[in-house]
Amino acid sequence: MWGLSAFLIFSFSRFPNISVMEKINAVITGVGGYVPDYILDNEEMSQFVDTSDEWIMERIGVKTRHILRPEQGSGVSYLMTRAVRQLLEKTQVDPASVEMVICATTTPDYHFPSTASIVIGNTGLTHAFGFDMEAACAGFLYAMEVAANYIRSGRYKRIIVCGGDHMSSMTNYQDRNTCPIFGDGAACVMMEATTEEVGLLDGYYRVEASYEHLHMAAGGSAKMPSHETVDAREHFVYQEGRPVFKHAVTKMADAVETIAKRNGLTKENITWVVPHQANVRIESAVARRIGVDEDHVMINIDHMANTSGGTLPLCLWEYEPQLKKGDKLIFTAFGAGFSWGASYMVWGYDGAAEAQKSPAQFYKEGEISREEWYRLRKGEKSE
Ligand code: UT7
Repeated sequence: MWGLSAFLIFSFSRFPNISVMEKINAVITGVGGYVPDYILDNEEMSQFVDTSDEWIMERIGVKTRHILRPEQGSGVSYLMTRAVRQLLEKTQVDPASVEMVICATTTPDYHFPSTASIVIGNTGLTHAFGFDMEAACAGFLYAMEVAANYIRSGRYKRIIVCGGDHMSSMTNYQDRNTCPIFGDGAACVMMEATTEEVGLLDGYYRVEASYEHLHMAAGGSAKMPSHETVDAREHFVYQEGRPVFKHAVTKMADAVETIAKRNGLTKENITWVVPHQANVRIESAVARRIGVDEDHVMINIDHMANTSGGTLPLCLWEYEPQLKKGDKLIFTAFGAGFSWGASYMVWGYDGAAEAQKSPAQFYKEGEISREEWYRLRKGEKSE
């Protein structure tokens, strides 16, 4: 018995303000984000692929997407570095106190080194280690759970979790079935230890090995890059929309229902559902299944598109001004693998004041014009 106590006291001695007996939770204490300047709208897209604004809006719900053009920068680290810089600026956290960085992405800059290494180097996180996590569109959901468990263990108290993708780097702009869907962007959160009953409190995560409908055929160790794979355009996203759609709705709705039941969450007390932004029809179907009003569903697919690992944190980035301490959030995501899940979080701070420090402003049709919102997001003065 004494041996166990000594072990626990030793293990927790790095955090003098957290006693051995207290339960440690992992809570988000700040959000940063970044999307590149270039905006590709449906009109421009319909000039190089056989599609229309009408079709894309009706079937997907995307109006515009941000694209990282080579003349601006390259690699997902370009996006994540800027998101982390904003996070550090907003939270005023000493960069040397950040212990770990997890980057959830399917479009790492390189096979190696990790994107996390590049981001850590770019942002002066001199005492951090880090690594990448790849779980396609469910990456950020899983990465939050991983970070939370490092924190719950008592060994770490400050971790940055990034989610984002440079989707245009693997989008085939000759394929109308996939190219309207995706955009580029990244966001990140600071997760910290707390003994309050807030933060990431529960999670349900699953994988079902099924990849014929959604994958990238070549470029990995199973099918190395070659002239043939390039000629066959096998380095782009391959997706059969309909079967993926069906799985996405069913799996995300099931996961949300499971998490809601386990935690006594109902349409009356859920403040926000934060769904992966794959298709506005999927988001609506998931919300309908648990009876949550669409006003309580974070949706930004119309101007962000599907940024894969970036969708959940970019929602937080934009909705931060509306978030209040004690809000009950259910996150859900679905992606290649198939990999999916849902998690329950109690929000830990009032977002309105924090968001003032950020160029990200909540955009909602009718409240502020799209042009005004873009201006504010770039840090330009309001007219
Ligand atoms: O993020 C990871 C998980 N991914 C998802 O959750 C995506 C799930 N799937 C979807 O969101 C939808 O299935 C898509 C948006 C990909 C496609 O929408 P859909 O309503 O399922 O369309 P469809 O693939 O069944 O195609 C219907 C028709 C076809 O024409 P025919 O065969 O009926 O004559 C397509 O060729 O629409 C045509 N089509 C288009 N037409 C104009 C497909 N893409 C386009 C396009 N513009 N961009």
